[in-house]
This record gives sequence, C-alpha cells and structure tokens, in this order.
Amino acid sequence: MAITAVAVLWWWSGDDDPFARMSDEEILAAAHAFYESRPYFERPRPYSEIPAGLPDLRAETCGQCHAAIYEEWKISTHARAFRDDAQFMAELEKSSGDYDEHHPDDVSWMCLNCHTPMINQLERLVVGLENGEIGKPIYVDNPFFDPELQDDAISCATCHVQDGVVYGPRGDTDAPHPVALGEDLMNENNCVSCHQAEAHFPDQNLACFFTTGAEWERSPAAAAGQGCQDCHMPTVHRKVAEGFDVPERETRHHWFGGSLIPKHPDFEEEIAPLRAIFGSGASLSVVTDEESPSGYSVRVYNEFAGHLFPTGDPERHVDVVARIFDGEGELVGEDEVRIGSIYEWWPQIRLISDNRIEAGESLYLPLTGDWPEAVEVEVVAEKFRMHQEAFDYHDLEGRYVNSREFHRSRWRIDAEGATLLVLEDDFGRRDTLEP
Ligand code: HEC
Ligand code: HEC
Ligand code: HEC
Ligand code: HEC
Ligand code: HEC
Repeated sequence: MAITAVAVLWWWSGDDDPFARMSDEEILAAAHAFYESRPYFERPRPYSEIPAGLPDLRAETCGQCHAAIYEEWKISTHARAFRDDAQFMAELEKSSGDYDEHHPDDVSWMCLNCHTPMINQLERLVVGLENGEIGKPIYVDNPFFDPELQDDAISCATCHVQDGVVYGPRGDTDAPHPVALGEDLMNENNCVSCHQAEAHFPDQNLACFFTTGAEWERSPAAAAGQGCQDCHMPTVHRKVAEGFDVPERETRHHWFGGSLIPKHPDFEEEIAPLRAIFGSGASLSVVTDEESPSGYSVRVYNEFAGHLFPTGDPERHVDVVARIFDGEGELVGEDEVRIGSIYEWWPQIRLISDNRIEAGESLYLPLTGDWPEAVEVEVVAEKFRMHQEAFDYHDLEGRYVNSREFHRSRWRIDAEGATLLVLEDDFGRRDTLEP
C-alpha cells in the first residue's frame, strides 16, 4: 500500500516528530484515543494481545484444532474481504489519495477498519486528521502489525478474541487458551457493528449506505426473535475441536452464506454446494393480479431474508425478466424490472429510487401485451453485485463475478389459471414450488 503524499510531507516536514520518540505502547494509546473519538463505523477493533498458549492470532493457527470451522470460514466472504476481493482492492486504490488528481482524499483507512478490522491487521495506524479532515489522516507505522493476519480479513479473532481472551458461546470449556462467555458474540450487535453504516462525506464524494441492521430491526424475523446468526450460521451437532477428548456440541456453521455470488471465478466450485443450504431471499411465482392489465403478474416475495431483498452495498440489484410465448413458441410479450436502490454518484451523491422489498413483502411485475387464450411464461431472475458501468469502470472482467441466475421457471396460463411447469433454483430442478 502506498503512503500518501500528505502523510509523507507531514512526517518529514519537522525534525520534531513527536511519534518518533514514543514507545510502541504510547503509539498504540495515541491511535486508540483517536479512534475512540470517531463514530463507531470509522473504528477498527482494538488491539488484542495474543491469548496465552497460542503463537499468534491467525486463522490457520485456530484451524489446527478447529479444522471444520476453519474450512468453512475459509470459503466465506468474510475471509475474502481483502485481497481476494478485486472490487474492494480497486476501490481501495482509488480511495488512497494518490491515485489521480480527481481523487485527492485518502479515505482508505476507513475501508480497512471494516475489511481488515483488527488493529493487529493494520500496517499503519491513524493518530489524527490534518485540519480535522477525514481525507487527510496522520499515519504512524503500527509496531504490532501482523501481515499474515491482515490477509485473513474478517477472521476468527475479529469475532472471538479481545484482550488476550477467546470469547465463546459457553465460556467454560476446557481449552488450551483462556475462554470467557461472549455476550455480544451471539446477538446481532456482533454483525451490526459492521453491517450498518449510514454516512455521507460530500467533500470526498463518498457515501457508506448499508443498513442491514436497521432493516432487520423492523422485520418479522426480528419480531420473532430470529437473529442474523440463525439464518447465516445454521446449527450443527459436532465436536468443535478435533483431536481433543471433547463432547459433540450444538454449535454453528461458519460459511456466512449470503448472495452466494463467488468473489472470483475460481471460487465457484467451492461456493456452489452452499446454495442448496442457504437458498435465496426471494421466491418467484406467476399469480393472478387484479391490478395487472392482463390479470397476471410475477410475484417476487421476500420470503426468506430478514432484511431488504437485496440488502447491503447500494450497487446490489436483482433483474427479473418475464417472456411470454404463444402456442407456436413466438414471443408475444416481455416485461422486466430491476429491484435495487439507484443512486446518482456524480457530481453529487443522490438517491434516485429504491424499490427493494421489505422482509415478508412482495413486489409485483405486471405481465402486459395482447395474448392468445393460452400462453407459456418464462421467468428468469438474476442477482448482481454491481451495475455494469461500475464493473467496466473498475476493469473487473475475469477477476470478479458480477452476477448469478438464481431462478428460472416456466408457467402455463390458460382458462384454468397459472400452472407451474418447471422450476430451477438454488434447490435444483422440479415441478413444484416446494424446495
Ligand atoms: C468486522 C466487520 C464485520 C463483522 C463483525 C461481520 N461482518 Fe459480515 N461482512 C463484512 C464485510 C466487509 C463483508 C463483505 C466482504 C466483501 O464483499 O469483500 C461481509 C460479508 C457478509 C456476508 C456475505 C455477503 C455476500 O457477499 O453474499 C454475510 C451473509 C455476512 N457478512 C453476515 C454477517 C453476520 C451474520 C455477522 C455476525 C455473526 C457478520 N457478518 C459480522 C464485515 C463484517
Ligand atoms: C463474523 C464473526 C465470526 C467469525 C469471523 C468466526 N466466528 Fe466462530 N462463532 C461466531 C458465532 C456467532 C458463534 C456461535 C455462537 C453460538 O453458538 O450461538 C461462533 C462459534 C464458534 C465456536 C463454537 C464454540 C462452541 O462451543 O459451540 C468455535 C470453536 C469458533 N466459533 C471458532 C472460530 C474459528 C476458529 C474461526 C475462524 C476460522 C471463527 N470462529 C470465525 C462468530 C464468528
Ligand atoms: C491447540 C488447539 C487449539 C487452538 C490452536 C485453538 N483452540 Fe479454541 N479450543 C480448543 C479446545 C480443545 C476447545 C474446547 C472445545 C470443547 O470443549 O468443545 C476450544 C474452545 C474454543 C472456543 C469455545 C469457547 C467457549 O468455552 O465458549 C472458541 C470460541 C475457540 N476455541 C476459538 C478459538 C480461536 C478463535 C482460536 C485462534 C485464535 C483458537 N480457538 C485456537 C483448542 C484450540
Ligand atoms: C430470516 C433469515 C435472515 C435473517 C434473520 C438475516 N438474514 Fe441476511 N440474508 C438472508 C438471505 C436468505 C439472504 C440471501 C439474499 C439473496 O438472495 O441474495 C441474505 C443476505 C444477506 C447479505 C448479502 C447481501 C445480499 O443482498 O445478498 C448480507 C450482508 C446479510 N444477509 C447480512 C445479514 C445481517 C447482518 C443480519 C442481521 C442484522 C441478517 N442478514 C439477518 C436471510 C436472513
Ligand atoms: C462500517 C464498516 C465498513 C466500512 C467503513 C467499509 N465497508 Fe465495505 N463492506 C462492509 C460490509 C458489511 C460489506 C458487505 C455487505 C454488503 O455488501 O453490504 C461491505 C462490502 C464491500 C464491497 C463488496 C460489495 C459487494 O457487492 O460484494 C466492496 C467493494 C467494499 N465494501 C468497498 C469498501 C470501500 C472502498 C470502503 C472505503 C471507502 C469500504 N468498503 C468501507 C463494511 C464496510
């Protein structure tokens, strides 16, 4: 990572550099004090000592004993939130202040605080801002930096380790490292500390809008006491440490399945089996609809997500296309809808529209056109990480996967109404809506 011009100038401008004379502990304290003064979404996780009995905090080290959990986490998006994410790396470069004259601000330090979230993972720490501007961080080298841990991105230690203690759901297991009960580990606070941020920095033409936490709070899932972990970390009965004389326990998988669009073409094979475990957020069907000119619509029902469909990054969207064919197989109608939030990014960031679907609610795509008595309707739905313009702008072809089809079905509409002929989704090919 390149050091910004601003920081370099500051660093060498005076011969009286206060940080050069500080001990490692004093540097850490200065960084902690700075981060504490910022809103929560600009803070990394505090520095943690290495728990007694462990050589380091790396996931691979945890994986020597917690092998099954490690293998799951390794293919999760959390493990791939840094170098494996070509979109993130491209955006990080453009956020680092020395990319070109159009991007003079360095806001990369904020990105890293969530994508490589522990202070132990940061190459440089921020101890202040020049003139209080978020785009002008004052950096010092981090004496506690572990480069291999940085590559782990959102790692075991992010959720489980603090002050040299390993926090777990029990806190009383006989482990070769100190353990304690992690109160916030099991509830939504753990997830929401990263999955909820609404911040606008107009001077930097930067916005963070992802509100999964707030969306969940108003969902039927939350009302029913269902947290993020209940859907994203399904339960399993097994030993949590292999090679030890410990009982099988009721515990949780660590894949963190979401949209299940792989972050790189090479990851497709590993990700594919997870789709039948997690499924997608919405179910699609052709239904009668008084408000549709033809009397029929495609219903997109956010049946399974505990938040908006789609949630998260503002670029995420879903395209649904319905094609109507007559008895000869001729196309007689075509309708489509894009489900997502649409922003204008330049010259100012502005929300233009947002038709994402609340948990438990539906969006209807009316089927239009002049049809004969009996037709067949083909419905195809695809989810995207970003709009094609952004994909092209970041030059991601071959290095990133932008979308995946998650539903394809064929229906017959005749005097009897709408009947499903065949459906293919995350759960396979069949002739019923039931998975
Ligand atoms: C330290 C910050 C942090 C914490 C804590 C965190 N996440 Fe994440 N999560 C991220 C980031 C960053 C990504 C996206 C990485 C990327 O796309 O490069 C992500 C991705 C995901 C995805 C996958 C989205 C997709 O691409 O399909 C899911 C699902 C998810 N997180 C759920 C959770 C749950 C559930 C918890 C709590 C148990 C949690 N996260 C805790 C930062 C965090
Ligand atoms: C995004 C947060 C997050 C990350 C990253 C994460 N975990 Fe977990 N872990 C949890 C949560 C939440 C639980 C489940 C608590 C419960 O059972 O309700 C859990 C449970 C566990 C347990 C089970 C303890 C028991 O007795 O059931 C172990 C062991 C564990 N994690 C180890 C790891 C290891 C090793 C890694 C990295 C390879 C890892 N975790 C990564 C959040 C995380
Ligand atoms: C040398 C083997 C070993 C290593 C390395 C190791 N653990 Fe453990 N850990 C265990 C054993 C054994 C248990 C107890 C399991 C049981 O009783 O079911 C345990 C328990 C846990 C628990 C559950 C604690 C509780 O009581 O709720 C968590 C969480 C956990 N480890 C996380 C980690 C993390 C994160 C790392 C890496 C930073 C790690 N472990 C490294 C062996 C290890
Ligand atoms: C009732 C189950 C449920 C609950 C509760 C839930 N989710 Fe999800 N989540 C899903 C499903 C299903 C998807 C897949 C959506 C899709 O089809 O892409 C998803 C997708 C995601 C994604 C990926 C973005 C996307 O649109 O694909 C993230 C990130 C995420 N969830 C985070 C969270 C967080 C954080 C919480 C808690 C605040 C949470 N989820 C609660 C079911 C749930
Ligand atoms: C408050 C924590 C936080 C900060 C700060 C943050 N991110 Fe993220 N980022 C997330 C989470 C959580 C996700 C995953 C879920 C989602 O898609 O919303 C994510 C996902 C992403 C993705 C993947 C989007 C996708 O559709 O797969 C990219 C790229 C990204 N972030 C870039 C950045 C950049 C660049 C910055 C700094 C300008 C940044 N992030 C700052 C938490 C953060």
